[in-house]
Amino acid sequence: MSPFHVTRTLPEDTTDAALRADVREGLAGSPKTLPPKWFYDARGSELFEEITALPEYYPTRAEREILRARAGEIAAASGARTLVELGSGSSEKTRHLIDALTGLRAYVPVDVSESALTLAGRALAAERPGLDVHAMVADFTALPALPDTPGPRLVAFLGGTIGNLLPAERAAFLASVRALLAPGDALLLGTDLVKDEKVLVRAYDDAAGVTAAFNKNVLSVINRELGADFDPDTFDHVALWDAGHEWIEMRLRSRITQTVKIPSLGLAVDFAAGEDLRTEVSAKFRRNGVRKELAAAGLEPVRWWTDGEARFALSLSVAR
Ligand code: AVJ
Repeated sequence: MSPFHVTRTLPEDTTDAALRADVREGLAGSPKTLPPKWFYDARGSELFEEITALPEYYPTRAEREILRARAGEIAAASGARTLVELGSGSSEKTRHLIDALTGLRAYVPVDVSESALTLAGRALAAERPGLDVHAMVADFTALPALPDTPGPRLVAFLGGTIGNLLPAERAAFLASVRALLAPGDALLLGTDLVKDEKVLVRAYDDAAGVTAAFNKNVLSVINRELGADFDPDTFDHVALWDAGHEWIEMRLRSRITQTVKIPSLGLAVDFAAGEDLRTEVSAKFRRNGVRKELAAAGLEPVRWWTDGEARFALSLSVAR
């Protein structure tokens, strides 16, 4: 059995304070918004895993296809001895990479969902003797210092999750990743690509209603954590393509005029009938845009791979 450590940079009270601040600010604004990171309690993580298997949700399969085909190239180009995975979730796709990285000594999965981390981390530590698995319960937008493991490091941020950040947040995030890296360390970044609007919208509004349940789960999280009285049945799931920003938005649209109470914040939040609460932005990318954003953060783009249908891309960039 290999070492398995869990580091919590999100103590219960910090998480709670962050959720309270996000809910207070997001529901006071106009339009109302909530950050997508609060989807992922144990139930939300489970629902997301279900989404990745839906026929309409192509990104996971497209990215897995690239990883399967290119793991050897990625491993050779990075020569990593430490793999840091941001937003690792179930770590399922990463297996290809871990298997290809023959000199790998340490795996550092970072996720806000402790349940997902612990499951995946323990399984890996048991499977790969000699691999030091150091799980970190942390928010990838507020990255703590990394554990002291051997370089070079490869930081993987897969799934297209960078698309959940707004452009200014992406710039700050990429700069913070760059700041963690030493010269020669690399970033492997997954980005979903701009494509036909119907394909995009279907991926976020599946026929079985799993994405709708995932979207509404954020209301259950707020009910449980903050004692709110959201009735998820009074909200409709909405997915739309914003062509100007080139991003998908998920929203929860109040079917009725209502006031939601959030006792632990001393808040009563009014919703008009038809009013939207934006719960997620999922930006879609073009090669040139990715290149520019990486370069602006001091990361030199060195490789670009897509799946056979060019739906999704992985890029490798190096800190100089
Ligand atoms: C996990 C952020 C990549 O934006 O596609 C899936 C989350 N939201 N369906 C995405 C999500 C709705 C997903 N990421």
